[in-house]
Amino acid sequence: MSRRWTNDLTAQDVTPERVFLNRRQLMSGAGALGIAGGLAAPAHAQELEPNSFEDITNYCNFYEFGTGKSDPAQYAEALTTEPWTVQIDGLVEKPGDYSFEDILSQMDIEERIYRFRCVEAWSMVVPWNGFELGDLLEMVGVKPEAQYVAFETAYRPDEMRGVAYPVLDWPYVEGLRLDEARHPLTLMATGLYGKPLPNQNGAPLRLVVPWKYGFKSIKSIVRITLTDSQPPTSWNKANAREYGFYSNVNPNVDHPRWSQATERPLGGGLLARRKPTLMFNGYDEVASLYDGMDLTENF
Ligand code: MTE
Repeated sequence: MSRRWTNDLTAQDVTPERVFLNRRQLMSGAGALGIAGGLAAPAHAQELEPNSFEDITNYCNFYEFGTGKSDPAQYAEALTTEPWTVQIDGLVEKPGDYSFEDILSQMDIEERIYRFRCVEAWSMVVPWNGFELGDLLEMVGVKPEAQYVAFETAYRPDEMRGVAYPVLDWPYVEGLRLDEARHPLTLMATGLYGKPLPNQNGAPLRLVVPWKYGFKSIKSIVRITLTDSQPPTSWNKANAREYGFYSNVNPNVDHPRWSQATERPLGGGLLARRKPTLMFNGYDEVASLYDGMDLTENF
């Protein structure tokens, strides 16, 4: 498979791994329900002492393991990720249960350094390892009637203590339009910072769509379904006024509870200046996917 996309970012741009691992604490106040990303006002971050970075090793959002800010790091280890099977079904030529190893053996794994922008206005630059979702779709053969791709996270009450609580409608689900899914930027991530994905970040397989807000990054995927109708998404089901299907990074569309016009890069120190957020997170190459669409309506 040929490389169809090249990084404009380099190792110098990457958010230090330690900052990435501690970002939830940096932003403080995580766990507020109904906030994708589970974070509170960035102002709190400035009150933190730098040495508090050391206290916690990992802050993630993975509500299947709890909504507390340290829950995923503490409890996601319980998830069995080997063996792992992904059911691929719906409007495909070769539906079936594909083992993770089988998928990996047929995919081109590469490192990609992407800007990552969360809905609450912090940003970072993360080196992911993964393969293009488009390559996987090509492998299974998409039928002409297909227009969308639906994703589903594992639902394992025995291993996921958080699913005992109805904070979201389990299993966690996400969706993309087929052209978004086939775009060469859309990555199925299998690792970050040169290592396999930690469980709390969505092992063994998660979605990364760098021109969309972080909450589109569905973790620990067990099912991919090609459909002809727009699939539901977890955050939209939980709060349709705040979270739309598209979730494109868009400085012109404010979240009902905060502005999206600027962002605070993590890793530039606690008092790092905010900078303007770019349309599509700066990934201009995806703009044509939305030609003629009102992105205020379709947020
Ligand atoms: N996927 C599942 N299955 N469950 C979740 O709770 N949280 C989402 C997304 N994917 C979530 C999920 C949200 S709100 C965010 S911001 C990102 O994962 C966070 O990914 P990270 O912890 O690797 O930064």
